[in-house]
Amino acid sequence: MNLLCFDSESAWINGAAAFWRDRLRAKPNLRLCLTSGNTPNGIYEAMVRSVASGQASFRDAEVFALDDYGGLAPDDRGRCVNMLRRYLVDHIDLPKERFHSIDTEAPDLEKVCADYDALIGDGFDLTLLGIGLNGHLGLNEPGSAPDSLTRRVEMHQSTITASANYLDHGRLPTWGVGVGLKHLLGSKEVWLLANGPKKAEIIRRVVRGEIGPDVPATLARRHANASLFLDPAAAAAL
Ligand code: PGA
Repeated sequence: MNLLCFDSESAWINGAAAFWRDRLRAKPNLRLCLTSGNTPNGIYEAMVRSVASGQASFRDAEVFALDDYGGLAPDDRGRCVNMLRRYLVDHIDLPKERFHSIDTEAPDLEKVCADYDALIGDGFDLTLLGIGLNGHLGLNEPGSAPDSLTRRVEMHQSTITASANYLDHGRLPTWGVGVGLKHLLGSKEVWLLANGPKKAEIIRRVVRGEIGPDVPATLARRHANASLFLDPAAAAAL
């Protein structure tokens, strides 16, 4: 896994955005799997500026939302699809039909999951992931099998607690549906993104700890083209 330690949070944002622009130039029909949450928003805003200034285009790209919570209203601002729309998708030139998200309110969730995996098909070119405080990747909580597919997941308590960061009410989700590790680790390129002091301890475990499903993010160390993007605060315990 490439370790990319930046000098400041703004260098971390600009560095990730510059690499992302390069990937889009090299392959305009890039197939992307994108996380939501607090981590990527500055990078997404930088990509919005890149599109506005003509330095990048998503015209031929395809974007898959990584996951979403269950039990929240469709317009809840904390839903992953709505965060992705608010920070990125609504402000770029991605054709609407090439933005895919997971309908967690559908009556037949097994079909939703199977359809999403079928749509992912041969997989992603580039996957952007945050890292949970317990080392999860998306909704792949500790213990998730490396070959897991898109599925309903009961969230761990720290993940439930963290969801409050995105909500303007206290009705915290307890489950969600997320792309499984098979497609995340099968992505041609994987970026793990972390910023801020709260991530320093889990980053130490991801980089120095034993590789295994107890800390799903460690599995990225076996990937041939994975990079960990860190700002100084997230890298502080290395
Ligand atoms: P965060 O969440 O980006 O809001 O810190 C990361 C995650 O749980 O994957």
